[in-house]
Amino acid sequence: MILKCIECGKEYNPKEVRYRCECGGLLEVLVDLDKVENVFDGKNITLWKYESFIPVEKRVSLNEGGTPIYRLENLQTELGMKELYVKNEGANPTGSFKDRGMTVGVSKALELGMDKVICASTGNTSASLAAYAAKSNIKAYVLVPSGKIALGKLAQAIVYGAKVVPVRGNFDDALNVVVEASSELGVYMLNSINPFRLEGQKTIAFEIFDQLGFVPDKVILPVGNAGNISAIWKGFRELYEAGFIYKLPKMIGIQAEGASPLARAWKERRDFKPLEKPETIATAIRIGNPANWPKAWRVVEESGGVLESVTDEEILKAQKMLASKEGIFVEPASASSLAGLMKLRNEIEEDESVVLITTGHGLKDPNIILEGFELPEPIEPSLEAFKEVL
Ligand code: F0G
Repeated sequence: MILKCIECGKEYNPKEVRYRCECGGLLEVLVDLDKVENVFDGKNITLWKYESFIPVEKRVSLNEGGTPIYRLENLQTELGMKELYVKNEGANPTGSFKDRGMTVGVSKALELGMDKVICASTGNTSASLAAYAAKSNIKAYVLVPSGKIALGKLAQAIVYGAKVVPVRGNFDDALNVVVEASSELGVYMLNSINPFRLEGQKTIAFEIFDQLGFVPDKVILPVGNAGNISAIWKGFRELYEAGFIYKLPKMIGIQAEGASPLARAWKERRDFKPLEKPETIATAIRIGNPANWPKAWRVVEESGGVLESVTDEEILKAQKMLASKEGIFVEPASASSLAGLMKLRNEIEEDESVVLITTGHGLKDPNIILEGFELPEPIEPSLEAFKEVL
């Protein structure tokens, strides 16, 4: 296993603490694919089933992965499709896909002998880091955009015992502080520019293949800091290079319109430019300067996919549809994958198989549902009163 720069190709020893190349490029972990095991039998699915692909020696685990994949029978009929699935990452231990990155990332921190970990977060990363730090008996510092983090996520970070520091600014501002703090203060950074995070998240691809028994034509997911789309693609590529699969899916990344620097650059066919003031109700992906954009851009190009954006209105509509037609309650950012599918529906053939990734549980952000909803007046405790309101 080696660490390699995606820009200049320089290699580094994975036993040293390093997040970027000297040239500033993002790093990637190259796993020895001669040694991976073909365990794809559809049984006993958990993240650590794929341990031969995961480049860490220690293991701190809360039983992450093994999340359900559902056939969306009602929605697929409504959208005129033959095979539509959702992989529901809200079923992870702290309610989001971040647990996949953290089981590996915090294991790596322990391996490197670090006793303090840090991240900037729109909420889910902080909840997950806090939980895995608690389990490992090490200290977690989480920096969050003040007033812009969903209540459930904040409660999680607090109860797991992290030091929660609100920052006057957005996620991008918080990440700048974290990058500086990690090098100055010797704290291990677990944002997704840390390539070991992505080594955990790539298992989403392994599970999709293991659960379905085939590779879908398209995978659609929300994009914020752009780590997850890069990780999932890496997982499919590894399966391909190991000779376990013979085709690759197209990767489709969805951003919220008010926070869509990547989708805009893609659609306007111009260079990427960060967005100063990202704004969306999908606070998880309220990011103007996705740190992993160079990886994500290549993924979409290489896979023949697309980057698209959806409005807050479209996101909320999709969130309601998933819950009321399929019984799956996801947070707004996660619903952007269904919103994106609906927007791109005409570009998808009727018989193509599509997997939507829903990234976080709906209960993390209940306010968004309750705002503007008024419960009716209470009734008297009698059958007559009940009949009157039917
Ligand atoms: N969906 C949810 C629910 C998220 O929390 C995030 C990212 C994403 C999608 C986007 O994933 O960044 O890999 O492109 N949340 C981070 C956080 C930024 O701090 O929790 P990405």
